[in-house]
Amino acid sequence: GAPVTVDIGKLEPGQRVVEEWRGQPVWVVRRTDDMLQTLPQLENKLSDPASEADQQPAYAQNEWRSIKKELLVLIGTCTHLGCSPLYEDEPTVELEHGGFFCPCHGSKFDLAGRVYKGVPAPTNLVVPPHSYLSEGVIIVG
Ligand code: FES
Repeated sequence: GAPVTVDIGKLEPGQRVVEEWRGQPVWVVRRTDDMLQTLPQLENKLSDPASEADQQPAYAQNEWRSIKKELLVLIGTCTHLGCSPLYEDEPTVELEHGGFFCPCHGSKFDLAGRVYKGVPAPTNLVVPPHSYLSEGVIIVG
């Protein structure tokens, strides 16, 4: 499939925009400072906190799983059986720090798309190949 451009110029902190690439949803979330601060605290609860299972390009294999710290780019498809997880920008019963919750079988991911321990999804959500055309435009693919 052709690359897709995602306009993030008007994306406010905490918001997510959804596009489609290769028939799959692509999410871009502009994380708030509060959201980013939750990430280092979760390591004990995650299956692959350092993202060693090759679920992202090398340039996104870092603490934030992103090129720019605040901007998270993910394929919005659960790594269990492919449902689309819900974006929880506020704490919920399942996700006390927010994140992504898959309603199909209860898989949970943090705000970097890293999977929690003890859920059916085997790996972190996928970060697709992407780059910045400009400050306000991402190219996915
Ligand atoms: Fe998401 Fe099964 S498809 S938990």
